[in-house]
Amino acid sequence: MKIVHLQAMKYEAVIEQLATMLNEAFPGQDGYPTLIEAREEVLESLTEGRISLVALDDNDEVLGWIGAIPTYRGHAYELHPLVVRADRRNQGIGSRLVADMEEQLRNLGTVTVYLGTDDVNNQTNIGGVDVYPTPLKHAIGLSSISNHPIAFYSKLGYKVVGILPDVNGFGKPDIFMAKRLREPLGK
Ligand SMILES: CC(C)(COP(=O)(O)OP(=O)(O)OC[C@H]1O[C@@H](n2cnc3c(N)ncnc32)[C@H](O)[C@@H]1OP(=O)(O)O)[C@@H](O)C(=O)NCCC(=O)NCCS
Repeated sequence: MKIVHLQAMKYEAVIEQLATMLNEAFPGQDGYPTLIEAREEVLESLTEGRISLVALDDNDEVLGWIGAIPTYRGHAYELHPLVVRADRRNQGIGSRLVADMEEQLRNLGTVTVYLGTDDVNNQTNIGGVDVYPTPLKHAIGLSSISNHPIAFYSKLGYKVVGILPDVNGFGKPDIFMAKRLREPLGK
């Protein structure tokens, strides 16, 4: 497997494969229900300043994709999107993509990498739950109950730093996770 910058490739076949993978991974209304929307997301990842890394097999078939968006004047990057082809999950490709992206971001001097991961199918213990009036209490006790990606990110050192309740409908929160890429000065 090799990991390459999408910006360095830009060829149509890869863009189509990425759009198909995204559409298949997130077919719901809250994701990319059409190939047109998925394709737009792929093209957006080529915007100036963004980083877009693609995992390819020996035949240049797409295995996975990770993007990062600069925010807070480059002190932080948001990971978006991350997807591994359905038939190649649980083989370490997602971890490798995150590790490679973190390395790129570290080299840019980035302090914090973060992401939002929705729970729209009650895959965590706060899915379907009314978290008011104590949303932070719920965020502290948050865990995956059914293969939610927070378990994947936790294994890679990401911490839950907050939730945004009901943003995908009642009981369907967005969950924010972050990781520090460099030690503070003086440590
Ligand atoms: C989440 C995703 C990117 C993980 O990629 P992957 O290549 O399957 O992950 P890896 O094989 O590198 O897994 C690393 C570890 O995380 C675990 N893991 C992976 N996905 C997991 C999940 N959904 N729930 C719990 N654990 C998970 C693996 O078992 C492995 O554990 P181990 O180190 O103890 O063996 C992939 O499942 C995917 O594309 N899912 C659909 C899209 C998605 O949800 N993207 C994230 C949006 S925020």
